[in-house]
Amino acid sequence: MERTLCIIKPDAVSKGLAGQILSKIISEGLKVVGLRMLHLSKAEAEGFYAVHRERPFFSDLVTFMTSGPIVVAALEGKDAISRYRRLMGATDPAKADEGTLRKLYAESIQNNAVHGSDGPDTAKIEVAYFFSTVDLVG
Ligand code: RTP
Ligand code: MG
Repeated sequence: MERTLCIIKPDAVSKGLAGQILSKIISEGLKVVGLRMLHLSKAEAEGFYAVHRERPFFSDLVTFMTSGPIVVAALEGKDAISRYRRLMGATDPAKADEGTLRKLYAESIQNNAVHGSDGPDTAKIEVAYFFSTVDLVG
């Protein structure tokens, strides 16, 4: 069993897509073991994306991620990290496979609807960024 962090980003939440996206995740057999809606502060978004702080898109990314509410979900399942990455599709929706969340719902390489942890170490850190142990079920 593995856990991973999903974020439904402000673009998708503002369009009312959170329910549809969660429904697709659950249909793939991933279990939601934690769920919250929140509006990130600048400091919280910078902290979450700290690994990207030297990238040219960092400041735009922080502005985008603080532009409205997000929904964060902790997902659990066998190979949850890679299965959820596959369901998300490529970062750039123009390169994402048919049927993936980003192909269906993303607007651009930045406003790309969803986030998913990229490995076991980041998944642990990212789930703990939003959920304490007592917030997670099952
Ligand atoms: P994520 O972390 O959100 O799941 O996305 P990812 O692994 O597919 O992409 P990553 O390289 O980690 O980039 C993090 C987020 O930064 C924004 N981005 N903008 N303007 C750009 O060229 C650019 N590149 C990346 C996206 O919101 C991306 O998901
Ligand atoms: Mg990433």
